[in-house]
Amino acid sequence: MEAGIKPSLAKRIIAEVKLEGGQVSREAPSRFERPVADHSPSAGKYSTTGAAPHAASESSLFEIGVAVRDQVKQGEIELDDLCQRYRITRAQGYSIMGAVLSGVLDGAMATEAAVAPHSANAEPGAVRLTGKETVLAVGDLHEPFTHPDYFPFIREVAREYRPDVVVFIGDEADHHSLSYHEHDPDGFSAGHEARVTQKRLERWFNEYPEAYVVPGNHSALPSRKAFTAGLPRRMLRTYAEIWNAPATWQWVMDLEIDGVRYLHGDGKSGRMPALSWALDLRQSVVCGHTHTVGGVHFSASYHDLIFGLDVSCGVDQHAYALRYARNHGKRPVLGCGVVKGYGKRPEFIPML
Ligand SMILES: [Fe+2]
Ligand SMILES: [Fe+2]
Repeated sequence: MEAGIKPSLAKRIIAEVKLEGGQVSREAPSRFERPVADHSPSAGKYSTTGAAPHAASESSLFEIGVAVRDQVKQGEIELDDLCQRYRITRAQGYSIMGAVLSGVLDGAMATEAAVAPHSANAEPGAVRLTGKETVLAVGDLHEPFTHPDYFPFIREVAREYRPDVVVFIGDEADHHSLSYHEHDPDGFSAGHEARVTQKRLERWFNEYPEAYVVPGNHSALPSRKAFTAGLPRRMLRTYAEIWNAPATWQWVMDLEIDGVRYLHGDGKSGRMPALSWALDLRQSVVCGHTHTVGGVHFSASYHDLIFGLDVSCGVDQHAYALRYARNHGKRPVLGCGVVKGYGKRPEFIPML
């Protein structure tokens, strides 16, 4: 396989060929075993609908794509030429040309990390910090539906622990009015909710002049809605722009501090979601998202000792936006997390 081409890309080409009805035969020899076809004008053209006399194998389709990549990009090879030269069907030829032109063969296709709703308006890439003695992880705020005591509670914790870094674990805004689920017709309009959320977030901006936010599923509702409506990324605003946040507040998709990953946590649930993440990632994890779980769990092996810290949330369970959880049998655990000792000593602090 040519250097720089990922096997996963080859699979995509093959999948496209199959979808488009190309005849794929494992028995057919690769192009390297097949003599190059006659390119003369008199050479026969394949039918636009029928299969070629010979169908190319999966591996040879990929190899053909690699071989003609530059020629296709520069318009030096037409579909009929391609089909003749490699004795493939037009469907296979279309797929190869499409894969080349769309960038699949170069890995140039937009990745999920670049376009998915969660990441569409956050800083791309990973932020890794080291040498931070104490980190404060603030739970899901769901502004403007945050519990009235949560802001003073976090202030109290910050004054006691004096964190080097403050991380907001996501869902900092609820966006109830933009929800994909039913939203209360008597609740705030989308515009009013955004204005109220802005005011509520400003007190956090003022209290914590520097902070990281790892956006959550609620944070991302504006871009998720834009995605659903078919708006491209360039038409979206960043989180910082939406909330007119100070430049010292950074929304980042991947945050690691002294070896501990901080992530919102959607994708896991149950009684120990953070530990579940930690076991999957093989590193200590701090996450929010599951409002009914707060605490720390460790896992030790002969090689390492890792933890999962669920920081839970600061929501007001009586707010209309949280009504959906009333019959779940559990209440939210209000609290936050602190990791001391340069990523070694996690603690869950409940709001009493
Ligand atoms: Fe949440
Ligand atoms: Fe969430």
